[in-house]
Amino acid sequence: MENLDTNNTMPRIGDFAPDFEAVTTTGNLKFSEFNKGSWVVFFSHPADFTPVCTTEMSGFALEKDFFSAHNAKLIGLSIDSIHAHIAWVNAVNEKTGVLFEFPIIADIDMSVSKLYGMLQPGESETAAVRAVFIIDPVGKVRLVMYYPLNVGRNMDEIKRTLLALQVSDEHKVAMPLNWQPGDKVIVPAPKTIEALAERKNSNLEMVDWYLAKKEL
Ligand code: BEZ
Repeated sequence: MENLDTNNTMPRIGDFAPDFEAVTTTGNLKFSEFNKGSWVVFFSHPADFTPVCTTEMSGFALEKDFFSAHNAKLIGLSIDSIHAHIAWVNAVNEKTGVLFEFPIIADIDMSVSKLYGMLQPGESETAAVRAVFIIDPVGKVRLVMYYPLNVGRNMDEIKRTLLALQVSDEHKVAMPLNWQPGDKVIVPAPKTIEALAERKNSNLEMVDWYLAKKEL
């Protein structure tokens, strides 16, 4: 069968993020240590010195204050050498003034890419697709995005989903279509007849008993 790579695993939502050690632009690291106590936004890009990747990595770099304000660390990856990474970081910094301060993994043996399903052979046998994993402070994968090589990601959506997960965890609520910070949130549906009666007498904004919203 074509394009079947049995060494390529794909972490799913709810799985613990596979651990690994890697060479990065900020030094060697063990992922579980890096993750401890913080949210992590782990993303891959196809290659250094390519245009779409340069816009995306610059986008992440420019949002560093947002991510650190929300207890989230950034870490990138591509199947390039550490020398290529360093040269690219330096070139972008010299041309645009933007500095990629977050670690970028040099995954030259593709081991991390394969562990995270970033190598999707139908798209490319040698370059990682544009993946995003949002991993919570206990190391669980909470959100997965995969984009093809030729379409850049949406930074607003990455920021929105990180906040949505954090607000959902804190308030035990769910987020409706197109939720933005400050919008009403969905209150979980009642699970007993008694809870249903309580809901009917509540001040929640109710479309039906199972679909109710509130302000936070
Ligand atoms: C880019 O970043 O521009 C790119 C990289 C690989 C394939 C296509 C586009």
